[in-house]
Amino acid sequence: MFQVPKITDSVYYVGVNDRSKTKFENMWPIPHGVSYNSYLIVDEKVALIDCVDVCYADIFFHKITQVIGDRPIDYLIIDHMEPDHSGAISLLRQRYPNIRLVGNKKTLVMLEGYHGITENTMEVKTGESIRLGSHELSFLMAPMVHWPEVMFCYEQKDKILFSADAFGSFGANDGDIFCHGDSIDPYKEEMTRYYACIVGKYGPFVQKALKGVIDAQLDLEYICSTHGKVWGVRHLPQLLELYNDVSTYKGHEGAVVVYGSMYGHTEQLADIVAAGIADSGIRNVKCYNISFADPSEILRDVFKYKALVMGGPTYSNGLFTPLTTLMEMLRVREVKDRIYGCFGSFSWAGKASGILSAFGEEMGWEGIGSAVQLKQGDLTSVINEAYTLGQDIAERLKADR
Ligand code: FEO
Repeated sequence: MFQVPKITDSVYYVGVNDRSKTKFENMWPIPHGVSYNSYLIVDEKVALIDCVDVCYADIFFHKITQVIGDRPIDYLIIDHMEPDHSGAISLLRQRYPNIRLVGNKKTLVMLEGYHGITENTMEVKTGESIRLGSHELSFLMAPMVHWPEVMFCYEQKDKILFSADAFGSFGANDGDIFCHGDSIDPYKEEMTRYYACIVGKYGPFVQKALKGVIDAQLDLEYICSTHGKVWGVRHLPQLLELYNDVSTYKGHEGAVVVYGSMYGHTEQLADIVAAGIADSGIRNVKCYNISFADPSEILRDVFKYKALVMGGPTYSNGLFTPLTTLMEMLRVREVKDRIYGCFGSFSWAGKASGILSAFGEEMGWEGIGSAVQLKQGDLTSVINEAYTLGQDIAERLKADR
């Protein structure tokens, strides 16, 4: 008979998988779905940690009922109010009218805004706790990871950190909520893509939250995010390393070459730059045609790798439009400390290369060489220049070894 998964004897996983949405936040593709994780602690009192998307309320309630039958839920701990987690709160409250909704000051403002709920709430602050019996919950504020009201919740008996979106991932939990291996590597790509798309702007706040967790010296057995796998404490060093890297914009050796191309000339230029990088001994080189590539994959790799090269045609006396969208995504995420090169193409008004050069300066990135300019598809005149740009980027990357 199906049993709701258990993390410990008294902590149950009652989250759900969503494989129906094609895009998370209607922006980011989720070909492998996403999970909305929720946890039920059963003691003298019953506490639910976070909720789920409203579309999945029915299966969510079935899981809860399977665990506690007709027992009431005493507390809902709201670590994060974004509707992928808070969407089902109104329905939960209809079902459990005496449930006490627990959050910080900012949570309660949002609870009223989203759900019109002002009664039977409980405000908590860092260091305060709620005793359920043998289990005790305490709270650690983690503002802007990635909303202002976010907090983490720690359960001291079973040593679980409920970390809201932090350490979360795209991808449904296919048949199993646990990461059984010792390595988080199978999940790193989707964790990084999730971070780059959703949390990417808030690196300094993530740093602060990580410091808060480390300083608190929590005795941990499990780390339970609101998305993706349940982690064991053996994964914690890898989780902290990954989050430290992405939140400090630490780029690893490698290059992303992003280009737009209307008739293929600029694409050839991009391939020549990429060949210059790879021929010089850099193994991680990723090329993306901006017209077809998904921005979330580009953002993921920009967060992963140290070098970025952008190129594209002049279009209506400006830059090829899809590249301007990507520029805005990078600008919003305040991507720092990149090695940068660029190239542009044109037929009669050479605007693209200037716009791309100025963008690198605006971002404070370390520019390599000057922008390669391709006129009217005459590749032979710039082929060596483009190859040299690639070589120079590679040499700069290798200087960090
Ligand atoms: Fe998973 Fe920020 O919500």
